[in-house]
Amino acid sequence: MNKNTSYLSFGILLGVVAASLAFAFLDSETDAGGASVRRLNVAHNQPTTHPVHAGIAHMAERVAVLSGGRLQLEVYPNGQLGSETQTMEQLQAGTLDIAKGSSAPISNFVSICKVFSLPYLFRDEDHFWSVLNGEIGRGILDTLATNDVGRPSGLRGLTYYDAGSRNFYAEVPIMSPTDLVGLKIRVQNDPVAMDMVEAMGGAPTPVAWGELYTALQQGVVDGAENNPPSFVSSQHFEVCKEFSFDHHARVPDMLLIASKTWQSLNEDEQAWLTQAAAESSEFQRAAWAAGVAEAMELMKAKGVTVHHPAIEPFMKSTESVREKYATGDLKDLVKRIGEVQ
Ligand code: GCU
Repeated sequence: MNKNTSYLSFGILLGVVAASLAFAFLDSETDAGGASVRRLNVAHNQPTTHPVHAGIAHMAERVAVLSGGRLQLEVYPNGQLGSETQTMEQLQAGTLDIAKGSSAPISNFVSICKVFSLPYLFRDEDHFWSVLNGEIGRGILDTLATNDVGRPSGLRGLTYYDAGSRNFYAEVPIMSPTDLVGLKIRVQNDPVAMDMVEAMGGAPTPVAWGELYTALQQGVVDGAENNPPSFVSSQHFEVCKEFSFDHHARVPDMLLIASKTWQSLNEDEQAWLTQAAAESSEFQRAAWAAGVAEAMELMKAKGVTVHHPAIEPFMKSTESVREKYATGDLKDLVKRIGEVQ
């Protein structure tokens, strides 16, 4: 290569690097017609067979249609971008655009969300959705933008997804709180869930969702708690053959966007995202119902025994937890939630 050619190659290389840096920075490119295309990254921690993925995939489709292809969502499932706590931190830093999280780990960022972890807060599924789709649910999504000391949290709530009720599973049947005594039960990164399992008599052990299969298999924990679609899609049934519907909490999933990303969008882009998020919530609820039915079939086929223990002893053993957290702002909120029909 003579000197001129090597200067030329160096120049081209610099140009390519500069252009890709500019694209990476702006997260935008142009389509065949020359119109600019903005891409947003979305993270969640479930496999692609889970109803949460169906909801997010639907949102991606709707955003693409509503924007005529000018706004695109790139979905990263399976916890590829980190645990829920890590992806929330990435939203705050503005290095990730959108993430789905259970309200339980989100409550470590904005504590009002603790309310959703309270055991037996909701009477049933209808009560849960009347609250989420009503003034209270909307209000909590709006509150997410502000942290506990009144500063911007870096997060913004988009919508809720169904995550059903949470229930215990282990290698032994959990028929009453006394069956939890001496068992290490995996919980989310959530102080309320820790207190709840302790109040029932078990030993709460936080483990990230993506590490739970191995923790169950190796006996780091003896059991866990979750909904049927998550129990099945995570293959936890391979280790735990006893699933008890004690319905101890209804902890919603939430879809959040980084404030930095939100502020960088124009009004049209914000409107497309808002509409697609709302539509995806409806879609995900339907996918959820189908996902639960499928999961129950699969559990049967895989030899899982499903129990329906009496709920009252579980409820009674957790009275102290509801009392502990129903103070300050949460006291009024718990009361208002109870009043929703
Ligand atoms: C549910 C929830 C997830 C969460 C998981 C967990 O499946 O939908 O967002 O990660 O519980 O227990 O960690």
